[in-house]
Amino acid sequence: MITPRPGRTVTGMQVGQPSRTAMATAQARAYHQLADEPRIFTDPLAVRLVGEDAARDNPFDKGVDPELARRRRLFLATRSRFADDTVAEAVADGARQVVVLGAGMDTAAYRNPHQDVRFFEVDHPDTQAWKRNRLSEAGIEVPDSMTFAPVDFHRDNLADALAQAGLDRTRSAVYVWLGVVVYLEHDAIAETLRYIAGQGGGAIVVFDYSYPPDAGQQERGKRVAAVGEPWVSFFTEEQMRSELESAGFTDIEDHSGIALVRSYADIPATGPALPGPHLVRARTASDD
Ligand SMILES: C[S@@+](CC[C@H](N)C(=O)[O-])C[C@H]1O[C@@H](n2cnc3c(N)ncnc32)[C@H](O)[C@@H]1O
Repeated sequence: MITPRPGRTVTGMQVGQPSRTAMATAQARAYHQLADEPRIFTDPLAVRLVGEDAARDNPFDKGVDPELARRRRLFLATRSRFADDTVAEAVADGARQVVVLGAGMDTAAYRNPHQDVRFFEVDHPDTQAWKRNRLSEAGIEVPDSMTFAPVDFHRDNLADALAQAGLDRTRSAVYVWLGVVVYLEHDAIAETLRYIAGQGGGAIVVFDYSYPPDAGQQERGKRVAAVGEPWVSFFTEEQMRSELESAGFTDIEDHSGIALVRSYADIPATGPALPGPHLVRARTASDD
């Protein structure tokens, strides 16, 4: 076991500090509520959670072409919209459990209108502790339907943590895993996919992954590495499909981020390149 020392990166994050990229993506979602038309993703808690000043002052956008920053923001809004829509459809089909992996400042659990739908938020303990403070400072109540499960994907056992939190592995569940895969080592990704696919009653997972970065993306990569959260895992569509199939998923949708953003917003063909991530929605066979 590696003994963490403050300030040293052992997990893809700075030990003892919450995720800076979680704050940046939350700022982007909050600013999306204030600035973008049409609004792709509506989140009435987003601005409250980070504060309006922070929403308007995202350090990751400093010195970046405003149109590129807008396109990145629209991608982040799109991936949250995609996850919200997937959860809503699954709940309409009878799912009653949602697991948000690497939740960061995700607010779905606090917007959940269904008292009988349970949410579980899994995140690095440092990020989760910080989020709980932010929720309390913002006066956002944690509903009884929501349970926190602190987990470091590189060190802790996800199955044990979720069992302790009360996840029923015999009933279907939706897993939302946004903005995390690129920060994890391959073994942690493969193990997590196998765990999700083992959900009795069927699993649906929504997540994004990144292609190897091109020149434009490398600049962004340097920024996240500079805050102690380097991108470490990249896949092509074929590689990701093979990971999913070997984990046990049978129904796999893979969308390029660009195509999905364009299905919601009018983005001119010219201008700065959109971010490279792909969004996946994959299912196992259901036996509920
Ligand atoms: C870019 S943020 C995304 C947060 C949120 N899902 C969103 O879409 O805004 C990355 C998240 O991954 C989590 N994370 C990164 N490495 C982790 C690890 N080794 N174990 C657990 N969580 C980790 C961070 O705590 C953070 O919440």
